[in-house]
Amino acid sequence: MKSKIQNPQSKNDPAFGVRIAGVGSAVPDKVLTNFDLEKLMDTSDEWIVQRTGIRERRIVDPKHEGTFTLGRDALRRALADAGMEGKDLDLIIFASVTAEMTCPSNACRVALEIGATPAGAFDLVAACCGYVYALNVGESMVRSGRYQRVGIIGCDAMSTICDYTERSVSILFGDAAGAAILTRNDGDPSVGCLYQSLNADASMWESLYIPRRCQEIPDKDRENPIRMGCLRMNGREVYKFAVTKFREVIEDALAKSGLTPDQISQFICHQSNVRIIDAAKERMGLSDDRVYVNIDRFGNSSAGSIGLCFDQLWQSGRVKRGDHVVFVAFGGGLTWASSVWKL
Ligand code: COA
Repeated sequence: MKSKIQNPQSKNDPAFGVRIAGVGSAVPDKVLTNFDLEKLMDTSDEWIVQRTGIRERRIVDPKHEGTFTLGRDALRRALADAGMEGKDLDLIIFASVTAEMTCPSNACRVALEIGATPAGAFDLVAACCGYVYALNVGESMVRSGRYQRVGIIGCDAMSTICDYTERSVSILFGDAAGAAILTRNDGDPSVGCLYQSLNADASMWESLYIPRRCQEIPDKDRENPIRMGCLRMNGREVYKFAVTKFREVIEDALAKSGLTPDQISQFICHQSNVRIIDAAKERMGLSDDRVYVNIDRFGNSSAGSIGLCFDQLWQSGRVKRGDHVVFVAFGGGLTWASSVWKL
């Protein structure tokens, strides 16, 4: 597979590793079940479970919640997990496609709220790949030696950009945030990201997009009834892309990092549709216990999904220090990404 960024550790790497010092996540309290959706649109619990594996998802109350509050809470939990405070951070990276404002960035507001100012802070847009993009960028910043302690957040409140009068897209999505604290580890240079890959190809952008202006809507989609500002998706095209890419990304990550599937404790994958995950598992012969799935309870939370999975695995002890894990994502852009770690 063509991949432009490839950086397996080499003898030129610095004599320090990068440690994931803490992990956290946050989801809203409000649960939106398939039965709730039945009341809003012409759909059924049976159809949604069969086609996607989703039973319920969490959604924000937009009066007092959004990506800023979810991301902030996830980062606070990651800091607590690391035994650190906001003032200890040098840099905050916030990945989202649903930030409340483009200026100031959510990262700047989170930095102020947690007492990290004047740490650097910026938002990053990579749709469902947001968490893996932020993780890879954050790890590279620490590995460069220029930053010591970086907080990364992947967070989306997809319910704020779903048109709940339309059934083909909105049933998939939920809201969540995941965060991690990356620190320089002078003790063990072998710890950290062993391989990372960030990729994008916009030739298929029209299969998944959030238009803000009429001019951006492709001709073939002019009759699409989904509201302006809401997510539009060609489910079948994205499905084909995801199933193919999923396998390619995992094969590439394993080949470039020199690891075999049985050396990986967990493949921590974007939760897009359980059928997409099952297809990849089947094709690669991966056992159920090494591919974590929570889409049944949380739906697809875009940039929030992988960080939420990672936190649930981390807090329950299913992944621990010394383990190898592979993060795998794909999404709007279209983008795809991987990150192989020794924790
Ligand atoms: N409830 C009931 N029926 C529905 C429905 C819903 N929520 N949504 C669509 N349908 C209907 C369609 O109208 C269509 O009816 P028809 O056959 O009478 O025309 C039928 O179900 C099949 O629709 P289709 O879109 O072909 O279904 P699908 O099997 O492709 O499943 C998705 C749709 C969205 C679940 C699936 O394509 C998917 O998961 N794609 C990937 C999306 C994704 O992962 N996006 C995020 C990427 S990060």
